[in-house]
Amino acid sequence: MSSTRMLKLAALVAAMSLSLHVTALQGPAPASQASEAIFSENAIQHPVWAKNGMVASQEALASVVGRDILQQGGNAVDAAVGVGFALAVTLPRAGNIGGGGFMLIHDAQKQETVAIDYREKAPQAAFRDMYLDEKGEAVEERSRYHGLAVGVPGTVDGLLLALEKHGTMSREQVLAPAIRLAEEGFVVTPGLSTSLTGLSERMRRWPSTAKIFFHPDGSALQPGEVLKQPELAAALRRIAKDGRDGFYQGETAEKIVAAVQGAGGSMTAADLRDYKAVERVPVRGTYRGYEVVSMPPPSSGGIHIIQILNILEGYDLRASGANTAQTIHRLAEAMKPAYADRAEYLGDPDFVKVPVAGLINKDYAATLRQQIDDKKARPGAEIRHGNPLPYESDQTTHYSVVDKNGNAVSNTYTLNFSYGTGLVAEGTGILLNNEMDDFSAKPGVPNGYGLIGGDANAVQAGKRPLSSMSPTIVFKDGKPFLVTGSPGGSRIISTVLQIISNVIDHDMNIAEATNAPRMHDQWTPDEIRVEHALNDDTIRLLEGMGHTVVRKATMGSTQSIMVTPEGLYGASDPRIQDAATLGY
Ligand code: GLY
Repeated sequence: MSSTRMLKLAALVAAMSLSLHVTALQGPAPASQASEAIFSENAIQHPVWAKNGMVASQEALASVVGRDILQQGGNAVDAAVGVGFALAVTLPRAGNIGGGGFMLIHDAQKQETVAIDYREKAPQAAFRDMYLDEKGEAVEERSRYHGLAVGVPGTVDGLLLALEKHGTMSREQVLAPAIRLAEEGFVVTPGLSTSLTGLSERMRRWPSTAKIFFHPDGSALQPGEVLKQPELAAALRRIAKDGRDGFYQGETAEKIVAAVQGAGGSMTAADLRDYKAVERVPVRGTYRGYEVVSMPPPSSGGIHIIQILNILEGYDLRASGANTAQTIHRLAEAMKPAYADRAEYLGDPDFVKVPVAGLINKDYAATLRQQIDDKKARPGAEIRHGNPLPYESDQTTHYSVVDKNGNAVSNTYTLNFSYGTGLVAEGTGILLNNEMDDFSAKPGVPNGYGLIGGDANAVQAGKRPLSSMSPTIVFKDGKPFLVTGSPGGSRIISTVLQIISNVIDHDMNIAEATNAPRMHDQWTPDEIRVEHALNDDTIRLLEGMGHTVVRKATMGSTQSIMVTPEGLYGASDPRIQDAATLGY
């Protein structure tokens, strides 16, 4: 048998051992087509329907893991934790145990929604001007591709906290599929291969990374090859056996510290040992009779989604129409002041006072709306942060889960850029984040997403960098109606907002809402960014209103589930390969 055929067979066996029932809609795919069929899920342009439970994630094998856990009787949190660990294996550009994120959990029985903040923290040796050179200029390399870029990872503590407090299964049960995927391997998809090739230079400079994802001749793993990660399997096994101590202490912790310090960073064993994920109270707002529940600081996402929706509530967007110039103008003008407020006020609430109530106040939104000319763009330079009431990436990944009892999980987590720093801690298989770049290295200097910030998001020891990740649940009559979220750095906020508006304002089903062309305006740079699918006529009309409109790559990769009386409808974004929404 040729080696290619053997690899394919090995991949198929690995896939089958995960009991791949590829589509809940059309029944299981024939075993001989399992690995191919799962990738063809990407082509789905209609909502997936299921009666009982559903998982939408950016990587199909991880969706299978979650769907199987639900089918085995696990609840939404069990499935979400299983998916989180599985993505660390199968979607290495964003799924992770070396990064951090946010999880929103709705417990249907208790009628309670909690937010778990497992964002990375700055090491104790971090300080305000750590990314400035002797001339006081910010040095991108240090905050992005260096040991100093690595924040203390939070994912493992966050997922385990969720499981302990809200799950029903054991660590061993939910980690088993991820361990198997790492050990037995899985078939490299075109999406994975392309992303590795694209970032080859950044990643291959680390020998510990090159040996996992690249051939000795420097080429990336090719579609159809099998990626096995035995060291990552061993690291996951230590977590299954010893819980958080299996990551934050002992062999894994020692190797992470050695890798970070070897790359010029200053993280210590104490930084890892002391890391703690925390439960926070979500932010809540309303939009045309729906309740929007989302992530509070250190995410800026929830606050600004609600703030922008509050501004938009004063317009009849249904009448102005989906993706018309008038509607896009209103969205852009509502986004600009929100992003200006973000730069001024948002930071880690454990270190700075964030005026949450003021920012999401409807009267404040009305004041901001009054400053908008409904026919003419307001130059970004004229916009400054407002005065709310007194104080009281490109790569991240999102997944949504709903179980048969109406529990829901909305989870977004990240290494910041694709593959983070690109550095794998030698001997662990764990890719390390570059989340420190989400701090403001210097007031007014943009980060990797073009976002600026000031004092509230300055670097400080033990502080969490400001995020835009916005796992969100929209409620109707007190019950989850829409579970959604997206990667995309600064574009996460506008992407999630447009999913909500497309569904509520324009009656789109969840696939239409997902596929519709997207726009984004973050105040600086002073432009509306649109996707190529937006038509020329609309762009000309927007330019006539004074906007600078630029067409760029697609934005976001939403993974959404809508709960209806007829069952669950889900949609994985067609913009990025390999995603799948699966239900049963
Ligand atoms: N790293 C992107 C974000 O957290 O917003």
